[in-house]
Amino acid sequence: MNINNHDFVQPVLDYLEQNKSRFIDDLCQYLRYPSVSAQAGHRADMAACAKWLVTHCRQIGLEARVCSTGGHPIVVARTPRGRSPKKPSYLIYGHYDVQPAEPFKLWKSDPFKPRIEGRSLFARGASDNKGQNLAHLNAVEAYLKTNTELHCDLTFVIEGEEEVGSTSLGSFLKSNRKELACRAVVISDTGMPSLKLPALTYALRGVVAFEVTVHGPSRDLHSGIYGGTVDNPAMALCQILAQLRDKQGRVNIPGFYDGVAELSAHERKEAARLPLSAADYRKFLGVPELFGERGYTFAEQRAARPTIEINGLTSGYQGEGSKTIVPAHASAKLTFRLVPNQDPAHVRKVILKRLRDLCPPTVRLEIKAGHGGEPYLVSPRSPLARAGLHALKEAFGHEPILMREGGSIPIVTEFKKILHADSLLLGLALPDDNAHSPNEKFSLDCYEKGMQMGALLWPELARIG
Ligand code: BES
Ligand code: MN
Repeated sequence: MNINNHDFVQPVLDYLEQNKSRFIDDLCQYLRYPSVSAQAGHRADMAACAKWLVTHCRQIGLEARVCSTGGHPIVVARTPRGRSPKKPSYLIYGHYDVQPAEPFKLWKSDPFKPRIEGRSLFARGASDNKGQNLAHLNAVEAYLKTNTELHCDLTFVIEGEEEVGSTSLGSFLKSNRKELACRAVVISDTGMPSLKLPALTYALRGVVAFEVTVHGPSRDLHSGIYGGTVDNPAMALCQILAQLRDKQGRVNIPGFYDGVAELSAHERKEAARLPLSAADYRKFLGVPELFGERGYTFAEQRAARPTIEINGLTSGYQGEGSKTIVPAHASAKLTFRLVPNQDPAHVRKVILKRLRDLCPPTVRLEIKAGHGGEPYLVSPRSPLARAGLHALKEAFGHEPILMREGGSIPIVTEFKKILHADSLLLGLALPDDNAHSPNEKFSLDCYEKGMQMGALLWPELARIG
């Protein structure tokens, strides 16, 4: 068989075509598990989802196992290794955990009862990330079931803690270094601007998370009797938070921008190729006006500039009607997105200092550090990247673009450090997939093209040195 002649992939592509409606059924089964890693009440659902995945992997001809961790289980599935000379090894990474579906009221249908409308499949996790990782499994299934030679040894690692910072996977990589040794990691967990514009992502932002609580009186107090004599924790928290960002959109923390790498002229040009105007972007997001760091376009702001976001903010009475109290405490969930070459440890330090400096003596500040991940940047011109671009172009029928993205996949820098492997980010999510939002969906076109891309990728990756 000549690996440079891709005719041998045809049976694989035919298999994908013939089985496409069953692949949708499989994805629907996968999506029925409410595998919400952030919520302790879903522990059993996490385990059940991992079990379904392992069973599925075995059915398609992979050697698969569930690996328990201190947190949620990791699924490892390998193509059977032949006795023939060793083939190049690649890892395929994905995650079966999903973000919380709340607020449920805003879903047009149950987030864990998949629903198809037109070419969209609606469910929590459809796009992020079950649909994307199943597309790769389907592509490999097609090779195995048609007895077409795969010129690579493949190992799937599908974890259950990506949405909560991948806490267990790092040590799992360390203790399974040998088995997981690979040339590179293939990941479909990022986006593409449109079906006509597939993308290779070469940079991701990092992240650091905190939960900040301001404690005031030992209990909620009558605001008429005591208000005016004690600080109000909600007010104090708002005043602290308000000083963390200025009106120009800059994070107002001394030392926060240390190390930030500016975009090159070439990158700014590439970012400007995005076929989306600021006006359409504004309308799409439903805001009266865009807001972002002055001096950068929205494409640059969201992919290549660091930010602060309040993800959750709570204090006092939230029920119906009014309740006149000074609340006992107030808290906020904060995340900061980082870009190359910010150092998360340094950033954490300067944030803590700033929060402590800003806290008045009238309240007590409690800070819990959350998950974190380093920013990632890899060459978009390596043979690895070129192989990915080729597969994208063949499958989608359009020239792909290179882009940086604003989201984070904290484990990619661990792949680099522990396995010395770069990640090839070939995302299948569309901008209107509603990842992390109500009514998440996955495009069935992306699903099908994604499978084809997966199938076309392995001969390409087998060829590179
Ligand atoms: N799939 C996303 C990451 C992503 C989305 C990258 C879009 C690029 C473009 C992933 O599932 C995710 O949401 N990651 C979290 C990580 C965090 C919880 C540590 C994120 O970015 O918020
Ligand atoms: Mn996500």
